[in-house]
Parts: sequence; structure tokens; C-alpha cells
Amino acid sequence: MKSQNDKPVLEPTTLWDFPKQSYGNTQKGDWKFNGVTPAGVIWNMLQRYTKVGDLIVDPMCGSGTTIDVCKEEGRKVIGYDIAPTRPSIIQNDARKIPLDDNSVDMIFVDSPYGDNVTYSSHLDCIGKISAEKEDFYQELEKVAKEIHRILKEGKVVGWVIGDHWRSKSGFIPVGIRIYQMLEKYFEPVDVICLIRRHQRSNTNVWEQRAIQYNFYLRGFKYLFIMRKV
Ligand SMILES: C[S@@+](CC[C@H](N)C(=O)[O-])C[C@H]1O[C@@H](n2cnc3c(N)ncnc32)[C@H](O)[C@@H]1O
Repeated sequence: MKSQNDKPVLEPTTLWDFPKQSYGNTQKGDWKFNGVTPAGVIWNMLQRYTKVGDLIVDPMCGSGTTIDVCKEEGRKVIGYDIAPTRPSIIQNDARKIPLDDNSVDMIFVDSPYGDNVTYSSHLDCIGKISAEKEDFYQELEKVAKEIHRILKEGKVVGWVIGDHWRSKSGFIPVGIRIYQMLEKYFEPVDVICLIRRHQRSNTNVWEQRAIQYNFYLRGFKYLFIMRKV
């Protein structure tokens, strides 16, 4: 990820699978963690929106990918999660973050997209609420308000989220709903499509379901980059 003159080479594409967890000197996060974020997504945001020594916060940091990328890139980092997977992650509910107003240089968050994935048995996990329920959006709005409060003016949050499809409920544009909510607090910088090119199960069950129930295999997630003004 470095050019010959040692300047970082920005990755201009937005592929979900580039580069996986293992670029650079060390492993980032845990590729086996349900819902892990590819390290390259966070790396790209650090290069574009932060400098060495800046403080980065991930309020829902799962297997700790953000922590590992920030440490390797010389950024200060605090990673929270409702159900910490390792000692470097602080147990905390993202709806109340124990940091001062206007104190953080960048926030990265890959939130639950509904109840499609089991992260933990913790009762306060927002990933236990279906995207079919209004509560889901209300709880994530509390997270957005906290992010807005702790972020310094002019700094950005990168928020990853995907959409929802079930045979009973049909399609729910979770990403667009979250974007609309974020727009109440932040100014848009960019909307990125993270392409999950090779993310398929071995059994081709989703291909079969897509044919049976007549829906597209969308295969992407959103990365909303929003600025506090
Ligand atoms: C998509 S995963 C994050 C993946 C992470 N970026 C990684 O690379 O491993 C979403 C995380 O949100 C956490 N979470 C859910 N509800 C939460 C809450 N109320 N407060 C803090 N974390 C929460 C889950 O425990 C889960 O680890």
C-alpha cells in the first residue's frame, strides 16, 4: 500500500474484498468474525481524512479491525463494543459514548444492518432488532447523535451499512433510510458502493433463493462519508 517514494497509494476503487484483512505487517481484525469489515475500507478513510497522531473512534468495533489498522498507521484509537471480543476493546453502548464533545478526529462505524447476523447474546445489541421495525432506526439515530457530539467540527464519520431482503418483508432500503437520518446531523461528503464481489456461500443457497423468490443478488454495501459542519 506504499509507493516507491513511501507515500501511501490511495486505492481508487471501492471493492469490499480489497485488500482483505491481511495487508501490511499484521492481521487486522478477525476474518471469521460475523460481519467483519475489510481492513482496506478503513485504511482508505484514514489516508484521506486523518493524519498521524489523530484520534479515531469506532463505537461498534466488533473484532477490532479499526483498532489494528489505526495502530499500524500511527493513529490514536479507541474501540468500543457492547460485547468486546478482545481486551483492547472497551465495553460500551454506542448510544452513550464516554468522551467529551468535539474531541475526535474521525469516526468509523460498521453498524448492524438489522437482525440478519448474530453478533453476541448481549441484550443491548442493536443487531437483535429487525430492520423491519422502527426501533432499529431510532436506536441507530441515538448512535448518530453521539457520534455528532464527540466529533470535532469539520471532521468526518464513515458509516457502513447494507440493505435487507426477506421473503416475507421483501426489500427494505435500510441504507437509504440511514442516509436520510444522517443527513439531519451531517453534510454529505460522498456515498461509496462497497462491492462484495466474492462474498458467496459455498452452497449457492442465495443464488437459488434469488431465482425462487425473484430478487437480485445485490452484493454491495454503502459507505456513507458525512461531515460535521
Ligand atoms: C458489523 S459488526 C462490526 C464489525 C467490525 N467493524 C469488525 O471489523 O469486526 C457490528 C458490531 O456492532 C456491535 N453492537 C451492536 N449493538 C451495539 C451497541 N448498542 N453498542 C455498541 N456496539 C454494538 C456488535 O456487537 C457488533 O460487534
